Parts: sequence; C-alpha cells; structure tokens
Amino acid sequence: MSDTIAILPGDGIGPEVTRAAVRVLTQVRPDLTCEQAVVGGAALRAGMPALSGQARVLCDRSAGILFGSVGLPEFDGKPLAERPEYALFLLRRDYELYANVRPVRVFPGLEDASSLKAELVRGLDLVVVRELTGGIYYGQPKEQRVVDGIEEAVDTMLYRAPEIERIARVAFELARTRRKRVTSVDKQNILETSRLWRRVVERVAREYPDVALDHLLVDNAAMQLVRRPADFDVIVTENMFGDILSDEAAILTGSIGTLPSASLGTKRTASGQFGLYEPISGSAPDIAGQGIANPTAAILSAAMLLRHSLNDDANAQRIERAVERAYALGARTAELASETPPLGTDAFAATVLANLR
Ligand code: IPM
Ligand code: MG
Repeated sequence: MSDTIAILPGDGIGPEVTRAAVRVLTQVRPDLTCEQAVVGGAALRAGMPALSGQARVLCDRSAGILFGSVGLPEFDGKPLAERPEYALFLLRRDYELYANVRPVRVFPGLEDASSLKAELVRGLDLVVVRELTGGIYYGQPKEQRVVDGIEEAVDTMLYRAPEIERIARVAFELARTRRKRVTSVDKQNILETSRLWRRVVERVAREYPDVALDHLLVDNAAMQLVRRPADFDVIVTENMFGDILSDEAAILTGSIGTLPSASLGTKRTASGQFGLYEPISGSAPDIAGQGIANPTAAILSAAMLLRHSLNDDANAQRIERAVERAYALGARTAELASETPPLGTDAFAATVLANLR
C-alpha cells in the first residue's frame, strides 16, 4: 500500500514553495499519494477553523505532513484560536511533536550572502533542537483579563522534568552522529524553569560521556551566534528561546528561505516516525503570489520527511545533493541573486529536478 503524505500549503508563499517541493518529492517517489488540505488563514477565510476537520482526518492517516506556512496580517489582533497560527499550534500539541530539529548550513558559494563576514560563516553547520510542545506556548493560565478595572495578560512558562529529559536525549543522540557537542541554552539566572532545565540536561548528559556539554544563557547565546557561529554543533533549548534563536541562526546563512525543519514526536507509522516538515521561514505575505519565493526550505523539508517518516535516506540525500548542485551551478532566487539574473520559484525547482542523480 502506498504511503499518504498530507500536504498543507497554508498561507502566503506556502502554496508556491510547497508546490515546488511536491514536484521534487513525487519525482523521486512517484509511489507516494500526496493529498492536500486547507489550513491557516486560507481555512479561516473559507469559514473553517484554522485546522479544519478535513485536514485533521488527512493527517491522521498520513505517514507525515509537508507543511507550507501560516500567518496573514489580516488576522493580527485576533485571539489565538482565530488566528492562522493556531493550526500549527494544534498539530504540534495533538500529535505531541515535541522535538523540532532545525539544521542550519551555509551552502558553499553563499557565504557572501550572509549579513556576517564570509569568514565567520564559512563551514557553519549547526542544528537547533527546539522543545516544541511545552513552555510558555502551552502553559496555563494563558489569557487576557480585566482585574480591578485594569487590563492584564498572563502566559505561563511551565516545564516538567520528563519533557526536558526527552528533548535532551534527542539533542545528545543527534550530537553523537555529528561533532559530539551540545550547547544547552537557558536563563537560569532568572527563571525557575531554566534551573530545572539545566539540572535535568546535566542528568541526561551523564548517559552520554562521549558528548561534550556546555551551557549558555539565552542572551549570551544570541550574541555568540553572531560572534562565532561556526563553533556550534547542537543547540538544545526550550520552546520560545528556540523560536527566537532559530530565526537568528537561520539568517546567518544569508536567506531564511533555505532552512528546513522537522517536528518529531512519539507517534510511529509502519513506514517510520510520524512528523511535520516545514520551512523555518514564515508566510512572507509581502512577496506571496509573485512566484519569486525561494523553495529551498520546502524542498529540503521534503527530504527530511523522506529521511524520518519514510526511512528513505537514499532519496533524502539525492534531493539534498541536487539542491547543493543547483547552488554550485549559480542558481539563485531573488533574495540571493547577485550577478546572475534571479530564478523564480518554479525555475529554481526545475533546476533542482534537473540535477537529481
Ligand atoms: C516557527 C513559527 C511559529 C512559532 C509560529 C508561526 C506560530 O515562528 O515555527 O518558528 O512561533 O513556533
Ligand atoms: Mg519562529
């Protein structure tokens, strides 16, 4: 029986970059059944919830989710449950996708696109492992209210030791396949959750004596990332710090449009680990519909889907190599173009397709 992949293009540039990724995915794996459902602002506009029932049913019977992006300015100011982002919020929570893996690499030849000096980002190869189902995103109470006639709002940052333990393990296991270094990021000088975080990470570290562990406070980590980015190997951190630091890490590469991500949890299917795969970049409504968005992140997200959810490392690598070749040959989308005329989304995808071996 062929595997079903849930395609959730979402908003902004989501549909165009996802279409490009599906072209590449179905080229290497024509046996897959790719089925699409509407989520995010697109669903809200159609009078459905951000995560429509149709999307849920599709995800339930899929091996993995290829997600575009959600978020549109017209929903600014709405409560979370009426915002496009709620789709992602629910998918992460309901499938317990607690481990968000965000690899950050600079493609050779793109060093000059970075806002940092090229020599600082040359050889940059790090992974942010972000806890995705806990912390301030999900803790209760979480509300706006009026107390004694004064408006106030509260978000709650809560962590339980097992949540920290399992994400720490993901980081240490991953480090073992790489340069064997984990940097844990917290704010233990101020936050109780961070003190627990640090204690638990140290406890887990004892099971991994071959992996070097160090700790950074989040403000310092933000600074070190632009000062000596190539020194990092695996960064593990809680949900919101990871959200912020992964955008910072991503732009070191010159374009946030090149970075994929995988969100993994406990659910397994006959074919592998169930997961959600999406570009780190947002919906970029300012350039949506123009056909100029960089599809690299979406294409590489499809490669991660093959690797983790379909146990198909061979085809994941084929796609990754094809993207590398495209860059090596000078293929550039508008935000990266220097000398060469920029390629549109579809033309870039066509170059990747032409470089599949
Ligand atoms: C991300 C995004 C999301 C987040 C938004 C869209 C809810 O910024 O995946 O990094 O904050 O987690
Ligand atoms: Mg983010």
